[in-house]
Amino acid sequence: MIAGLFAAAVLLLLVVRYLAGILRLRSALRRVAHGELMRPLTLDLPPGLRAAQRDVEAIARQARDLDRAAHRERSELNAILASIPEGIFTVDRRLCLLQANRGVEAMFQLSGSPVGRTVVEAFGHAAMHRLVQLGLQGGKEHRGEITVEREGAARIFELSISPLELGSDHSGAVVVLHDITRIKSLEQVRREFVANVSHELRTPLTIICGYLETLTDGGLDDRPMAENALGVMFKHADRLGRLVDDLLVISRAESRSVPLEVERIDLSALLHHVVEQFDEPIRSQAATVRILAAGGDLTLEADAVRLEQVFINLLENALKYGNRPGLAVDLHLERSGPNIQVQVTDNGPGIPSGDQEHIFERFYRVHKDRSRETGGTGLGLSIVKNVIQAHSGNVSVRSAPGEGSTFTVVLPLLQSAPVAPAPWSAAKKTATEGTSGG
Ligand SMILES: Nc1ncnc2c1ncn2[C@@H]1O[C@H](COP(=O)(O)OP(=O)(O)O)[C@@H](O)[C@H]1O
Ligand SMILES: [Mg+2]
Repeated sequence: MIAGLFAAAVLLLLVVRYLAGILRLRSALRRVAHGELMRPLTLDLPPGLRAAQRDVEAIARQARDLDRAAHRERSELNAILASIPEGIFTVDRRLCLLQANRGVEAMFQLSGSPVGRTVVEAFGHAAMHRLVQLGLQGGKEHRGEITVEREGAARIFELSISPLELGSDHSGAVVVLHDITRIKSLEQVRREFVANVSHELRTPLTIICGYLETLTDGGLDDRPMAENALGVMFKHADRLGRLVDDLLVISRAESRSVPLEVERIDLSALLHHVVEQFDEPIRSQAATVRILAAGGDLTLEADAVRLEQVFINLLENALKYGNRPGLAVDLHLERSGPNIQVQVTDNGPGIPSGDQEHIFERFYRVHKDRSRETGGTGLGLSIVKNVIQAHSGNVSVRSAPGEGSTFTVVLPLLQSAPVAPAPWSAAKKTATEGTSGG
């Protein structure tokens, strides 16, 4: 009897242990299913359940490894997407955003993630909505452009919409946004440049052809008239030559295939050399041109030929536009930290403030007709800017109408390009301070 009771108690205990074990297995399986198993699973189960325990532990391990791999891949993908300057987002077929990188937020200056909202809600851009919809319906890559107002300026984005399979009955699209504002504006600049060049070349050519026609139509018999015609033709042919020269300088300055010929030069000596070339106009205008060099080392690494072009243009402008009694031009140069600064100051007519920001643009002239009359091409200052920028320097203007202008050129002492061993200035070196003209 007692033995029977004992056996029943042991059996009950065993059943309870197994039941408890099965419950623990079930709970462990549920945690695996819900992805809650971050730590290795340790179950202490009765011997008869050990095989099942090993299987559950193996499943848990695999689930954990898969989870880690997926997490790593997600992080990598997010890092890649975040580092791409292009905006990238995905939408489902209802045009609701599923994912978006930071580029999208930056492009549209969003204050938070647009995920979860529709294209219209997120960007408030009807044309963009239509484009994405067209891309979704088309089933193949679709491209288009949109314009977005940002900080009062228009930016142009190119959109590329490609179909995306999101499971058996779900489709969507991946949208890539590329900011093409700069490319578009360069295209515009190029178009305007070609139009400007054609116009500038056309004008003297038309005049020359007109006179040639008059001469061939009997004008040669009228000697005074013929001489006048030849004079005008000569002037315009000269202008054509200048234009072509300036255009060549510009194209060379802009071409990366023609590198700077960098050598060590004495800037003060170079300025003296420039001023000497204007001896005649300085004398005939009774102008005063001074080179004021602060003491110390004023040598720097630069392309001497191109730099000479810069100061020829600046001095030529100062003399040409300031042509009046008592004209004084100062070329003031001094070291300033890792740079040398040259200021070309004149007491000429000055430049109206509205024109100052444009005078470095190609073909820009404050008084187009007056500039043309004096042989100006409107390219001088754009050459100046180009050359200075090629030297990693900077040029700016300060001017008050009626009080004259100051052009400030800042040039770094050192260039990253290799430096020629022979110093340009060795043969031409003159005093570091002097006055020319008077
Ligand atoms: N020192 C200056 N004083 C007054 N106006 C100037 C001066 N330098 C440049 N400008 C103005 O800037 C314009 C652009 O100069 P530039 O590019 O050298 O062209 P260009 O001399 O061939 O007309 C000139 O047409 C002139 O109106
Ligand atoms: Mg000029």
